[in-house]
Amino acid sequence: MGITPNPYKTTGFLGWIDDRFPLTKLWKDHLAEYYAPKNFNFWYFFGSLALLVLVNQLLTGIWLVMHYKPDATQAWDSVEYIMRDVPWGDTLRYLHSTGASAFFIVVYLHMYRGILYGSHRKPRELIWLFGCLIFLCLMAEAFCGYVLPWGNMSYWGAKVIINLFGTIPFVGPDLVVWIQGDYVPSDATLNRLFSLHVIALPFVLVGLVVAHIIALHEVGSNNPDGIEIKKHKDPKTGIPLDGIPFHPYYTVKDIVGVSVFLIIFLGIVFLAPDGGGYFLEQPNFTPANPLSTPPHITPAWYFGSFYAMLRATPSFAGTQIWGVIVMFGAVILLFLMPWLDRSPVKSIRYKGPIFKIALAIFTVSFVLLNYYGMQPPSPMGKLISQVGTILYYLFFLLMPFYTKMEKTKPVPERVTHEAH
Ligand code: HEM
Repeated sequence: MGITPNPYKTTGFLGWIDDRFPLTKLWKDHLAEYYAPKNFNFWYFFGSLALLVLVNQLLTGIWLVMHYKPDATQAWDSVEYIMRDVPWGDTLRYLHSTGASAFFIVVYLHMYRGILYGSHRKPRELIWLFGCLIFLCLMAEAFCGYVLPWGNMSYWGAKVIINLFGTIPFVGPDLVVWIQGDYVPSDATLNRLFSLHVIALPFVLVGLVVAHIIALHEVGSNNPDGIEIKKHKDPKTGIPLDGIPFHPYYTVKDIVGVSVFLIIFLGIVFLAPDGGGYFLEQPNFTPANPLSTPPHITPAWYFGSFYAMLRATPSFAGTQIWGVIVMFGAVILLFLMPWLDRSPVKSIRYKGPIFKIALAIFTVSFVLLNYYGMQPPSPMGKLISQVGTILYYLFFLLMPFYTKMEKTKPVPERVTHEAH
C-alpha cells in the first residue's frame, strides 16, 4: 500500500529502486531511448570528451586539495611537496594542469563544431547560451587555479587581471582593493581565489553542464546536416527515422574518441607536461616575488586571443577601459550568435561561399591573435592583433547581412549518411 508500481515493470532490487526513484526512466530517457541522429561525425566526440576532462579536473582537484595549503607563505612549498614527496603527486598535478589546457582545446573544438553545423540556431539557443556561460565560468575557474601555486607568473598574472577592474570609472580603484582584500595581491587574495576555485565555481560549472545537457535532451541533438530528425518519425513507434539509440551506438563510438584522446593526453602528461612552456610557463617555476616582474607577463595560452585584443586597443585619455570593453565584448558576441546568424540553413554543408570565407578569416584571425597574445609586445604583433581584432568583430557584426543575403544550397529532407 502507498506505492504505485513503476511503469517499467522492473522487479527485484531494480524494481524496488524504480518504485522510489526514476532510475530506469533516467536510463531510458537519456541513454537507451535517447535517439540521436545517425550521422554524427568526429566533431561530436568533443561533448563527451569535455565531460571526461571535467571529471578528471574534479577528481585530481579533490586529491590535490588534500595536500595543498592556501596560504601565501606555504602555497608554493606545498606544491613542491606534492611534486616531490607525495606518492604520484607529480602525476596528479600534471593531470590537473595539463587537464586545464586539454579542457580549453576540447571546449574550443566543441564550440567550433556548433558554429560549423549551426547548433546554436533555433531550437538550441539555450543549449548555446548555457555553453557560453560555461565558457565564462571556465575562464574564471582557470584564472583562479593559475594563481594557486603562488609562482611568479601567478602573482603578476593576478595583479594584471585584477587591475583590469581598476579601469571601471569611479568605482574601479576601490573595486580592485575589495577584490584583492588588500592593496596588492596577498594572502587574502590567494584565500578567496582558492575558495572560488575549489567550491563556488565548480558548483556553478557542474550546475551549468547539467542544465546544458537537460536543454540538449529536451530538443534533441543537431547533426552535420543541420536537419531536424524529429520531422520524420515512424508513425507507429514515434521514433525519429534517422535516429539511433544513444546507448549502445554512441556510447561505443565515444569510447573510441576517449581512447584516442587518452593516448594523446597521457602522452603529453607523461612526456611533456609543461607543453613546451605553454601549459606551465617558465616564470611559474619560481616563487611569487612582488619585487621582480617577469620580463613579459603573458596569460596562459587559452586566454591568448582575448589578451591580444586587450593589448591591441589603444588607451584613450590614459585609460585602458576600451581594451577591457573590446576584450569582454568579444565573449559577449558569442552569446548573440543564435540571433546574428540569419541563414536559412544551419549547416556549413549547405551554406554558400561567403560564410565559408568569413569563417576561414575568423579562424585564422583567432589563431593569430592567440599567437601574438602570448608573444612579447612588438609593433608587428600589435598591428596584426589590431587587424585580427577588427576581423573577429566583423565576423559577428556583419553576420546578419552576409548570412541572409547569400545563396544557399538545397537541404535534403533526410540526413545524409553512408554506412561504414
Ligand atoms: C564543460 C564544458 C562542456 C561540456 C561538458 C559540454 C557537454 C556537452 C555534451 C555532452 C553535448 C552532447 C554531445 C555533443 O553534441 O557533442 C553537448 C552539446 C552541445 N554543446 Fe556543450 N559542453 C560544454 C561546453 C560548451 C560550450 C562552451 C558551448 C558553446 C558556447 C557548448 C555548446 C553546445 C551545443 C550548441 C551543443 C549541441 C550540439 C548539437 O546538437 O549539434 N558547449 N555539450
